[in-house]
Order: sequence, then C-alpha cells, then structure tokens
Amino acid sequence: MKEIITIANQKGGVGKSTTAHALGSCLRARGERVLFVDLDPQGNLTYTMEADPSGPTAYELLTRQAELADCIRQTEQGDLIPASAQLAAADMELNSTGKEYRLKEALAAVAEDYDIILIDTPPALGILTINALTASDSLLIPAQADIYSLQGIGQLYSTVQAVRTYCNPNLSIRGILLTRHSARAVLTRDLTEMIGETAAQLGTQVYSTVIRENIAVKEAQARRADLLRYAPKSNAAKDYAAFAEEFTGGQDDE
Ligand SMILES: Nc1ncnc2c1ncn2[C@@H]1O[C@H](COP(=O)(O)OP(=O)(O)O)[C@@H](O)[C@H]1O
Ligand SMILES: [Mg+2]
Repeated sequence: MKEIITIANQKGGVGKSTTAHALGSCLRARGERVLFVDLDPQGNLTYTMEADPSGPTAYELLTRQAELADCIRQTEQGDLIPASAQLAAADMELNSTGKEYRLKEALAAVAEDYDIILIDTPPALGILTINALTASDSLLIPAQADIYSLQGIGQLYSTVQAVRTYCNPNLSIRGILLTRHSARAVLTRDLTEMIGETAAQLGTQVYSTVIRENIAVKEAQARRADLLRYAPKSNAAKDYAAFAEEFTGGQDDE
C-alpha cells in the first residue's frame, strides 16, 4: 500500500465522486492497483462503475456483518466496495467506542493487495467521513471557485483537526482541486486571493490544474462509463489527466 486518500467536502455537487472516479482511472492506467470505496449512501460512484448492488456493501463492512473480501466487487472500471442506502443510518447505528476506526481496521486486510485506496464520501461531516479520514493518509478537497464553497471548507478543516487530535495524527491535506470551472467565468482577483488564503489557512496548496465544466462528464456518467475512456479528448478528461500528473508528480510524504 502506498496511500489511502479520502476525497471530501461536505458540500454536495462539487465533484467528489467525479474526481474519485477520474483520478482512480488515471492511476489505474498507470498500472497502480486501485481500490475504490463508496461511502456515500447515494451511491453515485457505485452506480457509475456498474457494481452489482446485491451482496454485502460498505454498510455491512462498517457494521461488522461482512468480511472485507466479500464486499469487494470487481468491475470493468476497477475494484470497488459499493455503497448502500443503509449507510444513511450509520450516524445512529455506529455508536460504540472505536466507531471511528471501523474502516481503518477493515482496510488493513487488503494492505498488500492495492497500491492506492480512494474513498468517496457523502456531503456531510458525520461518522462516515470521519471513518474515511481516520483510515486515510491524506485528504483531497474538490471545490468550486465560489464564495460559499470556500466558506464551507473551514468546517471541513475543523473536522480534520478533530480527527488529527483524536484518531489520526498523520492525516495530511494534499490540496484543493478547483472543479466545474466555467470557461467563461474569469476568476476575479478577490476570489483568487480568497482561494489562496483558504489553502494557506489549511496549510495546503491549490492545484494549478483546474477541471473545466464539460458536458462529457454528465454524458459519461449517464452511460455508466469511465470519462477517460468514453471521451478521452474532452476538456474534462484532459484536465483530469493533467491533474493526475500534477497529483502524482508533486507527491511528497508530508
Ligand atoms: N467537470 C464537470 N463538468 C460538468 N459536470 C460536472 C463536472 N464535474 C461534476 N459534474 C456534475 O456535477 C454533479 C455533481 O458532481 P459529483 O461528482 O457527483 O459531486 P459530489 O460527489 O461532490 O456531489 C454531477 O451531476 C456531475 O455529473
Ligand atoms: Mg458524490
């Protein structure tokens, strides 16, 4: 295992699932053994990767009703632990001591089988996201370049700090990835400054690659296809390929 990475932002619709899928595809194309974990009860990643929804899911894993090996689906787009709608009850059902560590403990069983584990999270900062952050080496934050998105990152940071204090002192923040950027919207100087300040407060960077808003993303998802194979020449596919390059190239262990 090289790294376990959580993709999180409690705001919905900022490109978490899209980024998890596209980054994982790029890493797989480089020969990395990737395991995707879908912790969002909405199951968008599970749907797009066309995983068989029957059988044990992340819910059974976290509630210790299934072994990890039985939860992994092998799909054409890669190995995935699927989500189920029952995950929505996790905040109520996971209530015993050590509940933050369920995913970390479970993933130890496949430490030798994968190079990278990518965890997609729900738009909330509850026990599912905390399990993801506790299990991870690092956090990647997709965000849209608007004021409300940036304000929300402060709350995410408080959760990161709590996880560092109580569960996982080694959690690092890889960076902020700006997504769904409209080619017509020039980033104002104020907003650019604010993005930089937000990153500085988190002790992290803003990636220089920006993911453009591009209809090919929605088309690929509607067809349950991998964007990079479905529309490799699209702007979003090019941007994600460039991002994967930046993400792996700029890697340091801090
Ligand atoms: N670069 C993009 N261009 C166009 N649509 C996008 C892009 N990234 C994401 N979307 C769309 O925006 C919506 C939210 O993206 P998603 O990845 O599901 O966000 P999240 O997981 O944060 O809720 C989806 O309908 C998705 O198809
Ligand atoms: Mg999502």
